Amino acid sequence: MCGIVGYWGPEKPKKVILDGLRSLEYRGYDSAGVAIFDSSKLKVVRSPGKLSQLEEKIKSSEFTGPSGIGHTRWATHGAPNEKNAHPHKVGSIAVVHNGIIENYIEIKEKLAKKKIMPSSDTDSELIAHLLSLECKKGKNLLEATLNVIPQLRGAYSILVVNEDEPDTLLAFKNATPMLVGIGEKEIIIASDVQAFISRTNRVAYLEDGEIVLSKKGQVKFFNVRGQEITNKKIHEVKWNSVMAEKAGFDHFMQKEIFEQPQALRQTMESHVDHDSMTVKLKPTGLTDAQFKKFSRIQLIACGTAWHAALVAKYFFERVTKISTQVDIASEFRYGHSILEKDTLVIVVTQSGETADTLACLRLCKKEGHKTLAVVNVPHSSIDRESHGRLYTNAGPEIGVCSTKAFTSQIVALQLLALHMARLRKSCKVTEIQEHVRALLELPSQVEVCLNHDKWFKEAALSLTAYRGFLYIGRGVNYPVALEGALKLKEITYLHAEGYPSGELKHGPIALVDSSMAVVAMASKDELYEKNVSNIEEVRARGAQIIAIGTEDDAHLRRLSRHYLSIPKATWATNSILMAIPVQLLSYHVAVALKRDVDQPRNLAKSVTVE
Ligand code: G6P
Repeated sequence: MCGIVGYWGPEKPKKVILDGLRSLEYRGYDSAGVAIFDSSKLKVVRSPGKLSQLEEKIKSSEFTGPSGIGHTRWATHGAPNEKNAHPHKVGSIAVVHNGIIENYIEIKEKLAKKKIMPSSDTDSELIAHLLSLECKKGKNLLEATLNVIPQLRGAYSILVVNEDEPDTLLAFKNATPMLVGIGEKEIIIASDVQAFISRTNRVAYLEDGEIVLSKKGQVKFFNVRGQEITNKKIHEVKWNSVMAEKAGFDHFMQKEIFEQPQALRQTMESHVDHDSMTVKLKPTGLTDAQFKKFSRIQLIACGTAWHAALVAKYFFERVTKISTQVDIASEFRYGHSILEKDTLVIVVTQSGETADTLACLRLCKKEGHKTLAVVNVPHSSIDRESHGRLYTNAGPEIGVCSTKAFTSQIVALQLLALHMARLRKSCKVTEIQEHVRALLELPSQVEVCLNHDKWFKEAALSLTAYRGFLYIGRGVNYPVALEGALKLKEITYLHAEGYPSGELKHGPIALVDSSMAVVAMASKDELYEKNVSNIEEVRARGAQIIAIGTEDDAHLRRLSRHYLSIPKATWATNSILMAIPVQLLSYHVAVALKRDVDQPRNLAKSVTVE
């Protein structure tokens, strides 16, 4: 959460920083600000609201450079107003921060004893005070930082400029991301590669406790003892800036929904052996011998990735016959769970930076468990730190409302399960082949669903007036119901609940009357008839039914106000196809209600605080 950009180089820093912040706005959009050199003065301009408000404010300002920093905020401490916007400038020091300083009260009290009263309500301003105090004692920026780091507790990425050193940028971090883009004659320091991928693809990833000091474009890395790190690896990133553009779509979310056929092809690419119709994963970092040995699987994730993990549990248990647990990272983290010795821990994450998921990964590694990340962003913290990795390869996902990450996570997890099933001989070869065939068919079936968009839109337009929504499903479709309700809540602000169909009678059916819309997942599978009975039950109580079923299902069509179809698939791929109508329903309801689809209120895409 919060996006950070810093620039040093020959370009006008205002342009590079604003371009970078625009691509990082998915990390937070409560306020924005810059501190940029204008001749020898460091000019700070801040504004509440979205970046566009800041852009308007500095439209005619000339900043001569050569450097500056910028920030787009997702508020933690202090309301999203101008005074709490970053950068925070104290003396000659200006600071932008992503994260939370947990011991901020203690620091505030320490500063109060020195009669220093912060002017904002943020934890971030205190960092600027601490650095400024050190600089006043005659320390240079690196020395000051080395003295300040031991005083900070929490998760943070911090980027600093000093009015007395216009050619210097300094950054340090713990538990939240910070990257250094190294261009021909320029340096860009940012929270995410998207902030500078149009300028350079050469990237150094700061590890926890590392400091980067850039002076006139010369970059040096140090550890917390001030020793220089001379072997820092520079990576070449393969994503490009075009992948992060809307490409003619109205919203990133819409574009990403329509990218799913391609994303799923990429997820499967080179993992499937077409001759034997089986899955042979490209090297993951874990050996076949290890995959054969695990006797338990523990999946951990947050948000949409948690729903993908819930879908995958059914598949893992059926094909690998290994008992599989799924936990929400923020719960697992403090839950004192007991994992058996041969447990494979799988963390599922689009960004690879979610604070709670990362913390669980570290916890499980510390306890001696093997870990594997199903991750979309290469070189992210979770990718770098897990023992093994399986990329979802879905390409950049910008829309805060996750779509293609969800379906590609389910596919990646099914590939992993099939790989393990083959190695362990836990299900028949023919069964594996059937699943592989179903997966290979999936991208074109998703295309069929996408071609029905006008029906989804038509259904959505009649849903804007309902008081509440229930999404119901059984088995693998139950987590899709949870995901459908989450999509609707996130971008329309309408109230929706996801429920297992069979559980309705234990409470939620009391909510049902004619002002309630029920979105029912009822594909033709072994649970079809049970689902239909549940639909009858809510229908009898006046609910409006939007049923999603297999092909042209006359019975469901008769029961529902809107009937939406998916192609005929297997029980395992049904769940992935079901996701398409639920994503598009939410999208069209949000557009009809004139919601901010790509930047829904209060949310951020990358959640780097707990
Ligand atoms: C945020 C995003 C969700 C995402 C979740 C987990 O809440 O808005 O879309 O599912 O974080 O993120 P991850 O990057 O770990 O998949």
